[in-house]
Amino acid sequence: MFSWHTTPRPIIALAPMAGVTDASYRQMIKRIAPEVIVYTEFLSTDAIHYGAKKTMKMIDFDPAVERPFIVQVFGKDPEHFLSAAKVIEELGADGIDINMGCPAAKVVSSCHGSALIRNPDLAAELVHATKKSVKIPVSVKTRLGWERTDTLIPFCQKILEAGAEALAIHGRRYCDKFSGAANWDPIYELKKAFPHIPIIGNGDIACAADAVSKIGNLDGVMVGRGTFGNPWVMAEIVEALYAKVYGSECLVHDAENGEPGTRNVSFAEKIPFILEHCELAVRLKGEVRGMLEMRRHLASYVRGQPGAAEMRARLVRAEKIEDVKAVLCI
Ligand SMILES: Cc1cc2nc3c(=O)[nH]c(=O)nc-3n(C[C@H](O)[C@H](O)[C@H](O)COP(=O)(O)O)c2cc1C
Repeated sequence: MFSWHTTPRPIIALAPMAGVTDASYRQMIKRIAPEVIVYTEFLSTDAIHYGAKKTMKMIDFDPAVERPFIVQVFGKDPEHFLSAAKVIEELGADGIDINMGCPAAKVVSSCHGSALIRNPDLAAELVHATKKSVKIPVSVKTRLGWERTDTLIPFCQKILEAGAEALAIHGRRYCDKFSGAANWDPIYELKKAFPHIPIIGNGDIACAADAVSKIGNLDGVMVGRGTFGNPWVMAEIVEALYAKVYGSECLVHDAENGEPGTRNVSFAEKIPFILEHCELAVRLKGEVRGMLEMRRHLASYVRGQPGAAEMRARLVRAEKIEDVKAVLCI
């Protein structure tokens, strides 16, 4: 059984991202960097409790590729956490993560996500309800605080006492939303306060050098937006962090590719990967939905290429894989 305590260090995780980290994205990331832990998009415990078809489909994963596989949930009703957790465990997930960080107005106004930072008793109750219904580990992803960061340690103490086994901390407060630079200092302080708890830092990692400079005393890093159009960054991060921890002899490294943590993937090499991503999305979601959801990824994949603006304008209207091939000149 998966355990946050024994999973190899450093932990490198793909951040849960609504509208992004669906099965096709997770599987493509795992193809590049098999060491990465993947999370689903955040899913409503209410919807899972009631067996809502669309949400249940979002828990589908490929166990041969996507392990460790963590399902992230949000909500506020302990009974629904209890039943949703059982469903998630039965479906074979390796862990359940509770979202206590989403700052979206719709989420916070329903007392979900970041709102739980202001309601530590309920936050602890949700962890406790989840924990008591399953054997797989329960973790929490949260932010530094609501408006202050000195609440981070007492808040985490409460959710750890309730049974959370690992924490992923986004280095921003609720009030920052996504603005300003992520502040990792309170995360390092948190790790000093709970040295035996696996703690993962998150925020503004865009390249391997960022991961190396930010990991500090933490057990791992979590990367979100840095993967947009550049999933290869995950392999670079794995290489660079493993080299930092174990020395570069540990790497099966292609010297032609330069230093560990740098990959010179040409656009020509990226094209087959991009098409495979499209094919997977279409296979898993059907042509209409699959291609619609691929458009944001396609726009990201061509970023920085000569003629990107023109390619992007055509790619965001792509309806079929053939349309993508025509833009990429295949
Ligand atoms: C499009 C998008 C969707 C997100 N959805 C979620 C989510 O479902 N659950 C969650 O915990 N965080 C979510 N986040 C926050 C990320 O997981 C992460 O904490 C944040 O982007 C900071 O990390 P980064 O700088 O590496 O992107 C989302 C972020 C973005 C950009």
